[in-house]
Amino acid sequence: MDDVSTPTAPHEFALPVAGLRTGTLLHRSRHADTVHGMWHGVHVVAKRIREDILDTDERAAAERGILREGLLLRRVEHPAIVPVVALIDDPAALILEFIPGNSMREELRLRRRLPAAEAARIGMQLAGALAHLHRRWVMHRDLKPANIIYDGTRAVLIDFHLAKEPGAMRGGAGTRLFTAPEQVRGGHVTTAADIWGLGTVLYRAVTGRLPFHADSGHPQLTERPIPALERLATARFDGDMARAEQELPRDLAAIIDSMLAEDPAARPTADELQRLFAPIAQRDAAA
Ligand SMILES: Nc1ncnc2c1ncn2[C@@H]1O[C@H](COP(=O)(O)OP(=O)(O)O)[C@@H](O)[C@H]1O
Ligand SMILES: [Mg+2]
Repeated sequence: MDDVSTPTAPHEFALPVAGLRTGTLLHRSRHADTVHGMWHGVHVVAKRIREDILDTDERAAAERGILREGLLLRRVEHPAIVPVVALIDDPAALILEFIPGNSMREELRLRRRLPAAEAARIGMQLAGALAHLHRRWVMHRDLKPANIIYDGTRAVLIDFHLAKEPGAMRGGAGTRLFTAPEQVRGGHVTTAADIWGLGTVLYRAVTGRLPFHADSGHPQLTERPIPALERLATARFDGDMARAEQELPRDLAAIIDSMLAEDPAARPTADELQRLFAPIAQRDAAA
């Protein structure tokens, strides 16, 4: 009765997408609205340019962005990468398979930290997605908890709006605290920048914190990441490394620290990571 004014009321596009029955607005970013909906009987998510953007150039850029994201996503197929259902132009709409679960951002807000075996399993799945992308010469460039959906078993990478081929690029693209130093600076940036991003996500998952003390500017340009185990020990166990190690085994901490190496060439590749995480993911979480 009163549901028209509740936050779960369906989001209406002024220009509807043919075939799409819209549900609730999931997210609004600077350029795009992401809406849950039904598409020929299946649950989907529709990503569409925000209708309140009026500037013509800005609209055109946002439209191109959504089409680019869709075209790129259609070139890849992996269990840990969101599948495309349809890509529509004019006005552009990217229809994606709806992935049930929380964003990892929400998951970490609720659970604060994840057990080592679970974090390693997530790392292995996402390293699989990155290996698939990197083999195709694509970088994601915006690895962060909000761009991962997780249902407690399966992690899926979403949001390819910044994805592009490695090479020379301007600095600054990405999300402040999750971006590799070389990506913040700009210049020649390789797929190793995604390894840093995933490293930051996993670091946060196992310690409950980000790798830096600073909360302003780009600390990755001025500080070295605090080793994960040390961070966990100081945050939780009054500096007692032995107790911290029970939560975060040294082998997992070492992998995550290596993903945050200053020198991109010193970071493991996505293929190597899959192999490194596998035995830790298989360990009994309760052991
Ligand atoms: N395929 C999907 N299934 C379920 N939820 C999704 C899906 N795609 C996006 N979302 C939700 O919408 C949010 C925004 O989507 P995203 O692609 O990251 O857009 P933006 O480019 O605006 O950041 C995500 O953080 C997630 O909560
Ligand atoms: Mg996003």
